Amino acid sequence: MSAGAILVTGGAGFIGANFVLDWLANEGSPVVNLDQLTYAGNPANLAAAAKDARHVFVKGDVGDRALVGGLLREHRPQAIVHFAAESHVDRSIHGPAEFIQTNVIGTFSLLEEARGYWSGLAGTERGGFRFLHVSTDEVYGSLNGADPAFTETSPYAPNSPYAASKAAADHLVRAYHHTYGLPAITTNCSNNYGPFQFPEKLIPLMIVNALAGKPLPVYGDGLNVRDWLYVADHCAAVRLALRKGRPGETYNIGGRAERTNLEVVRAVCAALDELRPDRAPHAKLIRFVKDRPGHDRRYAMDPRKIEAELGWRPRHGFESALRKTVEWYLDHMDWVNGVTSGAYRDWTELNYGQGGRA
Ligand SMILES: NC(=O)c1ccc[n+]([C@@H]2O[C@H](COP(=O)([O-])OP(=O)(O)OC[C@H]3O[C@@H](n4cnc5c(N)ncnc54)[C@H](O)[C@@H]3O)[C@@H](O)[C@H]2O)c1
Repeated sequence: MSAGAILVTGGAGFIGANFVLDWLANEGSPVVNLDQLTYAGNPANLAAAAKDARHVFVKGDVGDRALVGGLLREHRPQAIVHFAAESHVDRSIHGPAEFIQTNVIGTFSLLEEARGYWSGLAGTERGGFRFLHVSTDEVYGSLNGADPAFTETSPYAPNSPYAASKAAADHLVRAYHHTYGLPAITTNCSNNYGPFQFPEKLIPLMIVNALAGKPLPVYGDGLNVRDWLYVADHCAAVRLALRKGRPGETYNIGGRAERTNLEVVRAVCAALDELRPDRAPHAKLIRFVKDRPGHDRRYAMDPRKIEAELGWRPRHGFESALRKTVEWYLDHMDWVNGVTSGAYRDWTELNYGQGGRA
C-alpha cells in the first residue's frame, strides 16, 4: 500500500472510531470517514479528531452509490476499510430488514463502486489498492464445549439474522476477488470491548447499569462463551492486514480469552468494587433473564494464521484491559450520559422495559 488517503465506512461507531483515531496516530495519512450516524454512530467518539485536517467526516449511507462513487473519485483512496454495519444481534432478531439493507445490499453497493474505481486505476495505485472487509466470528455458528476454535476453513453456519447478513457480505467480498480480481481481504474478529462501545453490548451495558444501581441482566444460565479482544488489538490487526495481508485471504482475529458471560459480568463487578467501593458488592445486581432465541453457545477464534503470516499478537490481556475499559467509562460519564439519554433508551424501554438487557 502507498501512503495515500483511506476511506473508512462506519467510522463513528465503536470499532470504526477507535480505528480512525488509531490510524491518524499511527499511520498518519488522511481518512475519509463515511458514516450514516444511525443510533450506533456518535460524532462524540471522534472528538479527538475534530480539529484534525486529515480527518474528513461525511454523513451518508454506504448504499448511496452516487455518494460513494463521488468520494472515491474525489479522494482517490489507497484502501477502503469497511466497518459500517448494523451490529447488534438482538436488534437483528427484532427487526432484520435494516441488517439486510446495510450489511448485504450496502456491502454490495460499496463493492460495485470499489470495483469501478479500482478498474480505472493503473500502476502502483492499482497494485496497492485494498478493500478490507471487517467481519465477525459469528458467521461460523456455534461451538460445543470441547470443539476446537474456528479456523479460516471452518464452514459458515450463521444462526442469527445479524450473522447471516455478515456471512452474505463475506461471500460477496470473496466473489468479487475471485471473479473480478478485486484485491479484497476479510478479517473475522471475536467480541471486542473498550472505549466508545455503545451500552447495548454486554460489557458497557453492565458498567452503565451497575453505576445506575440497575439490574445486571444475564441471559439464560450465563454460561455462553465468547472470545474477547481489546479493541486496540483489533485495530492493530486490521492495519497489519491492510499492509501485509494477501488479497483474497481471510484472517481470523481473537485474543484466546474465552470467558462465559457470567465470568465477564463478575469481572466487571470486581473492577467496579475496587474503583467504586461505596457501592460494593456490585454482583448483587446480577439477574438471570430469559435467554435470547437461538443464542449461540460458544465462539472461539484460532488466530494462528494472522500470527504466523502477519506477525500479529494481541498486546492486552483480558483482566487488565477490562479494568482499563471500566476506568474509561468512569472517566467519561459525559459520553455515557449523552448516549444513554438518546434513542437507545427509548428503544430499550420499548423492547425490554426498564433496566432491560438489550
Ligand atoms: N463489536 C464487535 O464485537 C465486533 C466483532 C467483530 C466484528 N465486528 C464488526 O465490526 C464492524 C463495526 O462494529 P461496531 O461494534 O463498531 O458497530 P457499531 O454498531 O458500534 O457501529 C456501526 C457504525 O456503522 C454506521 N452505519 C450503520 N449503517 C450504515 C450505513 N448504511 N451507511 C454508513 N454507515 C452506517 C453506524 O452509524 C455506526 O457508526 C461491524 O461490521 C461488525 O460486524 C464487530
